[in-house]
Amino acid sequence: MEARLQRRVQRYGWDRAAAHYDAHWRHQLRPCHDRTLAMAALRPRESVIELACGTGQVTFAAAAAVGPTGRVCATDISEAMIATAREQAAARGIANVEFERIDAEQVAATARRFDAGLCALGLMYFPDPEGALARLGRVLRPGGRVTVSVWGRRECCGWADLFPIVDARVESEVCPLFFRLGTEGALDRAFEAAGFTGFRAERIGAELRYRDDHDACAAAFLGGPVALAYGRFDAATRADVDAEYLASIARYRGGCGYAIPGEFVIATARVPD
Ligand SMILES: C[S@@+](CC[C@H](N)C(=O)[O-])C[C@H]1O[C@@H](n2cnc3c(N)ncnc32)[C@H](O)[C@@H]1O
Repeated sequence: MEARLQRRVQRYGWDRAAAHYDAHWRHQLRPCHDRTLAMAALRPRESVIELACGTGQVTFAAAAAVGPTGRVCATDISEAMIATAREQAAARGIANVEFERIDAEQVAATARRFDAGLCALGLMYFPDPEGALARLGRVLRPGGRVTVSVWGRRECCGWADLFPIVDARVESEVCPLFFRLGTEGALDRAFEAAGFTGFRAERIGAELRYRDDHDACAAAFLGGPVALAYGRFDAATRADVDAEYLASIARYRGGCGYAIPGEFVIATARVPD
């Protein structure tokens, strides 16, 4: 997919997610977020730049870790995600975060240098993740660390069929490179190409739990990479898509709803001194 189109699909697809992202994903992503923050090892007074901050699930924990004398600059391509994160920060009285709507690949080097960079579950959506990492490296001080997380291997993510199911009904793949960074050695190579050193990575398993069919479909289709396409389908096509997706995850349904396996890779590296 052409890069400009991919950015539009992401921007407006994630706009649709903002209102219900926390309800559908906060609990599911918790193991990944906790591990991302642990590997980032943020310290009081540090300054942090975050790419693809979404509604701020990682941002607010980062803000707490750096404390009142530290700062977090949280960025995302989606206006609605940024607006939601800003509202939540105000409601929680968090004063050490500033938000900016910006494409991760447009983050510009300024005189300011951050101690750390974060990107939780965002890189897979960028047209040029290696380029975004290299840009991120340029806004960090020498020795500054970057910590990212991505979804893991396709075969370890029980919900992965949602992409081919939607792709079969549109003209171009909605998220062609989604699982590329989760394969063995891929993040390692991406960090190396972007000029980082001291690479470390961990792979963790997780379970996405949904109460029922409605919940599972809402989480998959109402916001995010496939949302723009799904939103344009007529009612009959949406019903077919839901049915195919539910058939693809049927084996993970039990008495208490769905427990769909997932995998995350969390990696950290630093800018050479
Ligand atoms: C799965 S959400 C992750 C949000 C948050 N980091 C979290 O872990 O909850 C993916 C986010 O990536 C953002 N995104 C997608 N493409 C982007 C781009 N090119 N530049 C910046 N953000 C982007 C989306 O708007 C969305 O908020």
